[in-house]
Amino acid sequence: MCGRPIRFYSDSMKALAKVTGYQHAHAALCDRRLVQSMYGECDVLMERVLLTLHGESHTCRRAIEWKLFRRDFARYYEREVYPATLAQTLGSYLDQGRLDLPEFGFRVNINLSADIAGIDRPEGSESETDMLVAFTRKFSEGATLFHSTRDKAVVRDEVAEALAQFNARFVAPSKRRREAILEQISRGDLPEEQAPRDILTVLLANRDDQDLNDDMILREVAFFMQAGAHSSANALTHTFHELAQWSEAHPEDRIRLKTDDGFLQRCVHESLRLHPASPVAWREASESFSLPDGTPVAAGDSVLIDLMSANLETSLFGEDAASFNPNREVANRIPTFGLTFGIGIHTCFGRDIAGGLGTAKTEDQPPHLGTLTNLLKSLLRHDARPDPARPPVADTATERPNWGSYPLLIGAPPLAKTAGVTG
Ligand code: HEM
Repeated sequence: MCGRPIRFYSDSMKALAKVTGYQHAHAALCDRRLVQSMYGECDVLMERVLLTLHGESHTCRRAIEWKLFRRDFARYYEREVYPATLAQTLGSYLDQGRLDLPEFGFRVNINLSADIAGIDRPEGSESETDMLVAFTRKFSEGATLFHSTRDKAVVRDEVAEALAQFNARFVAPSKRRREAILEQISRGDLPEEQAPRDILTVLLANRDDQDLNDDMILREVAFFMQAGAHSSANALTHTFHELAQWSEAHPEDRIRLKTDDGFLQRCVHESLRLHPASPVAWREASESFSLPDGTPVAAGDSVLIDLMSANLETSLFGEDAASFNPNREVANRIPTFGLTFGIGIHTCFGRDIAGGLGTAKTEDQPPHLGTLTNLLKSLLRHDARPDPARPPVADTATERPNWGSYPLLIGAPPLAKTAGVTG
């Protein structure tokens, strides 16, 4: 599986090199001579957001934003904020006895996204959440336009329209409130600790240092809205599907899935390894040099980093690396989820929030499970099971192998109990 040099030419006759295997992909993702290039299709949303910045400007933006994501934030969020959000969102679906998993995943994470991005929800109403979900779904379509199967020009227009409406309805008022607070702080009328802890506040406080204008701030906030919800919703659905299959083949683990949080978290990591948000990352060489596997690239060449091949490397993950096995032994110092959260320059900000930090338990430090494990724990506790009358369907709007719809029944069945995922 280990990466062998591959160099060929794309349709435009631009040289294209492919990096495969874990170590080579890892090294390529950490190499500053390779510039992010998968998001240029949708500049209307992605131009100069954190994920597409490079060099000094990326380092500076990342430094101010990263402060929000210190480990205490992930723990605080998991303990103090997420349980209430989850219970509230799940509540209405429990009444209906059914839900669509990708939609549910998006909805439950929209609050996380909005808290991080700095979007106020003054009404706290269902219709307000519906609006945020619709805007954020559109931003996700824009961010993943590279893999879209729809007419890209049409999607771009839709994203621009959604951005304008999102700005008027949510960003402008959220901005006004924060500007007033920052003004009070600068006059010394309010202590600095009273500033909201979110991306929008950080950007407003640093707009001169970072040379930010209103459009850039809008795009960054919209990008964070989708980053916090999109990949997690897909990961939730993939994991549930893996659990359903595992439970069929391993009925002896059904109870364990409901009672052993560490085991459930290993299942989440195993599924993340098998289903990276994007199976590939794209970069462009900024100068001539040799890739870690020896392939020469020239300035302007495209480099495809095959994350899927990295995550399936048998020397690290075992001979059965291509199959779901939460009991697998993974090579030392290799994350159980492989390169699914990226590594190096653009390492995912949400890794600890979504995936947790492992399960080492001490008296005063309970395990940090991450939002995905917590979500699945709640779903399984409420007997979530595939709806036999409505099979799941793939998302045909993207080339990425995601589920478009995954209907579940939830809550104890009215009469005889069915086996469901966990029996
Ligand atoms: C299962 C959930 C998630 C997965 C699989 C995932 C995956 C990734 C990957 C692969 C990258 C790097 C892309 C590249 O190198 O080209 C990334 C970047 C990023 N992710 Fe996530 N992500 C997830 C959840 C989150 C969450 C919850 C947030 C919270 C805000 C988030 C925020 C970000 C940000 C801000 C970046 C850009 C970092 C930079 O460019 O410096 N992600 N994510």
